Amino acid sequence: MNIDLKGKRAIVCGASQGIGKACAMELASLGASITLIARHEEKLKEVQAQLPKDSGQQHHYVCADFNQPEYLKAVITEYLSNTQQADILVNNTGGPPAGQAYEAEVSAFVKGFQMHLVCNQILVQAVLPYMQSAGSGRIINIISTSVKEPIPGLGVSNTIRGAVANWSKTLSKELGKFGITVNNILPGSTNTQRIWDLVKNRAQKQGKSEEEVAAMMKSEIPAGRFAEPEELGAAVAFLASPAAAYISGVNLPVDGGRMSGG
Ligand SMILES: NC(=O)c1ccc[n+]([C@@H]2O[C@H](COP(=O)([O-])OP(=O)(O)OC[C@H]3O[C@@H](n4cnc5c(N)ncnc54)[C@H](OP(=O)(O)O)[C@@H]3O)[C@@H](O)[C@H]2O)c1
Repeated sequence: MNIDLKGKRAIVCGASQGIGKACAMELASLGASITLIARHEEKLKEVQAQLPKDSGQQHHYVCADFNQPEYLKAVITEYLSNTQQADILVNNTGGPPAGQAYEAEVSAFVKGFQMHLVCNQILVQAVLPYMQSAGSGRIINIISTSVKEPIPGLGVSNTIRGAVANWSKTLSKELGKFGITVNNILPGSTNTQRIWDLVKNRAQKQGKSEEEVAAMMKSEIPAGRFAEPEELGAAVAFLASPAAAYISGVNLPVDGGRMSGG
């Protein structure tokens, strides 16, 4: 199976920690040069220094806040005009805050839509010319299992994730003719800052300890544990590889078997 990514450049968003960082590490271990994107420069520098690297690889980072789409557009456009290469794009950023949909401020939906859908669109339009001229490309969106089964207490997230999934499916139909695949990874509960923030939030609301809440969540997962971020990174790396050239338009849950539906 050909999973060699030597000579490829992967732009990985939300890459300073968690799932994004794990994706960057895995893609680099297969030979890709990585461009990390997130807000915090010090964290990005640390990840950049940790990325596997041989003589052919050059790892960069770009600081951008997905709450400022116009700034993101400007910096990524300028960055790409210098590097002139983008073979893999991993769309990923922080998840919207917890809460019921009916209680959420309208501004929370606008913010979530901007951070997830608008920024993804900006990034796709920025990388597209380079993927088209290469005759191939991989766009991989980190979304959530809520695309298929809305998660109680994540009202804004559930809503925005559905929009991103439909946007992605549409793109997969439009971009196949350029040799570009578009796929979604749907993480289940994964051992990162995000899941522990959600555990804390639930524990406070339910008057339970964080240990009790985490144990209850794990009891709903056939695998009996949270995923490690590296397990998400491995799925992304496979979809980014030459071996996955004929896989497009899919939602791939990486959830230890938690979802009931297909
Ligand atoms: N972990 C889970 O169990 C789980 C399950 C389902 C779905 N997901 C989703 O998967 C995605 C990644 O999750 P994770 O667990 O890896 O989250 P995480 O540990 O909170 O990491 C989020 C990453 O996004 C970056 N980020 C956050 N806000 C940003 C902004 N405004 N602009 C640019 N970058 C920003 C962060 O870096 P900076 O702070 O440096 O900007 C960080 O690198 C999220 O959308 C999450 O909701 C996670």
